[in-house]
Amino acid sequence: MWDPLISPDLEPKYLALVNALDRDIRTGVLPPGTRLPTQRELARRLGVAVGTVSRAYDMAERQGLLSGEVGRGTFVRRREWAAQEGANDEGDDPALLDLSKSRLVRDPSDPTLRRALEAISRRPDLDRLVDFYQPAAGMARHRTAGAGWIGRTGPAVEPERVVITSGAQHGAAIVLATIARPGDLILTEEVTYAGIKALAGLLHLQLRGLELDEHGLRPDAFEHACRSSAPRALFCMPNLQNPTGRTMPLVRRREIAAIAESHDVTVVEDDVNGFLSSDPKPSLAQLAPAHTYYVTGTSKSLAPGLRIGYVVPPAQHVDRVAAAIRASTWLTSPLLAELVTEWIASGEADEMVEWKRSETTVRYQLAREVLAPWLPSGPVSFHLWLPIPEPWRTEAFVAQARARGVLVTPSQEFMVGRESAPHAVRVCLGGTLSRPRLEEGLRRLAMLLAQGPEPVLAVY
Ligand SMILES: Cc1ncc(COP(=O)(O)O)c(C=O)c1O
Repeated sequence: MWDPLISPDLEPKYLALVNALDRDIRTGVLPPGTRLPTQRELARRLGVAVGTVSRAYDMAERQGLLSGEVGRGTFVRRREWAAQEGANDEGDDPALLDLSKSRLVRDPSDPTLRRALEAISRRPDLDRLVDFYQPAAGMARHRTAGAGWIGRTGPAVEPERVVITSGAQHGAAIVLATIARPGDLILTEEVTYAGIKALAGLLHLQLRGLELDEHGLRPDAFEHACRSSAPRALFCMPNLQNPTGRTMPLVRRREIAAIAESHDVTVVEDDVNGFLSSDPKPSLAQLAPAHTYYVTGTSKSLAPGLRIGYVVPPAQHVDRVAAAIRASTWLTSPLLAELVTEWIASGEADEMVEWKRSETTVRYQLAREVLAPWLPSGPVSFHLWLPIPEPWRTEAFVAQARARGVLVTPSQEFMVGRESAPHAVRVCLGGTLSRPRLEEGLRRLAMLLAQGPEPVLAVY
């Protein structure tokens, strides 16, 4: 029996219910084909009017989440097989302006994927890429290319220290599995990349959020946590933090590195967005090399379906990380690592990054224009942290934006622990949207902010 968690603050109630439906369908709580409670039954359980549930079911049906069958009930919609073929895990819905995906999609006319595949297909040693179990840390030439790629905006590292992973999420997973045991405490920014919250759940780790200011993670909060508890590690994003888009200045990096060293706390530095920096700053891996595991990937800089990431552990721990690769996946697909290596070697990876930088700058400037009264300044990024002004409540804003066809992500999704979330949403500029569609989405958000919440009387 579906027991929805409805935010008590969110008005109107029917939108809160559509939100809960959407969330529970996306997260698999309500699998396709599930029969929902009758309107009367759900209304009774939630203590709302039957009309509220009817309105919510009706809206969810129009949004393609549910299907009503006369005489049988209301069901979570099953996807047709044909539709599944073209579907992806991102839940793309052409009817919605999706500003919830933090990345920038490659130029669709970019021919480099085909060209690289053709180049690889002509290699005399092509079969070697699939006929053998190559070394767990990756093939030497892939690690060498990775070291060069990391060094563009990250730390200068020797190829022997680079371990190839199946994406940055896999990199973070094997690092945490290597350094921490169930129950260990991992510190992180108080709003953080949701994938780390998922990993903490998977690995049975405790997470504690640390305060941020406009320069990112606060050193006093880190120092205090090190003194008052026994953290195993700090997971943080010094460059274009997800979700806030903040970047640590050099002084801040030095302070964080010094605290990690003096309290002997391991740092997991996630740098998937660092490639966008036009003025790269030294990484924590450079400032505290014996304490830092540097993690990055090619999902944001190149394309997410490649599933190639890199981990640079402290020199003495490379073998342990390679052992964790073996235990988790044996090795990362050499064919995919070859594709990335080909892109890097041909210079096309650099061109792609150049394109992403300039496109992100254009989109960022557009967002600054449209959201000017509400958006504080910050570095160019494809995700923005938009404060939600009074008298809005964040969840109500997200629900009203959704009702107007725009998806943004509320701060709650990024919160660690039970502290109350800041009044903010993450707005992403580079999902699958064209520039005009992005502008339309931003304008709808600006209009909502300018108008304020609809007055709703829902208590009788
Ligand atoms: C901050 C951050 N780290 C890691 C990842 C995971 O990247 P990958 O696709 O390489 O696993 C993401 C993806 O959204 C991210 O935003």
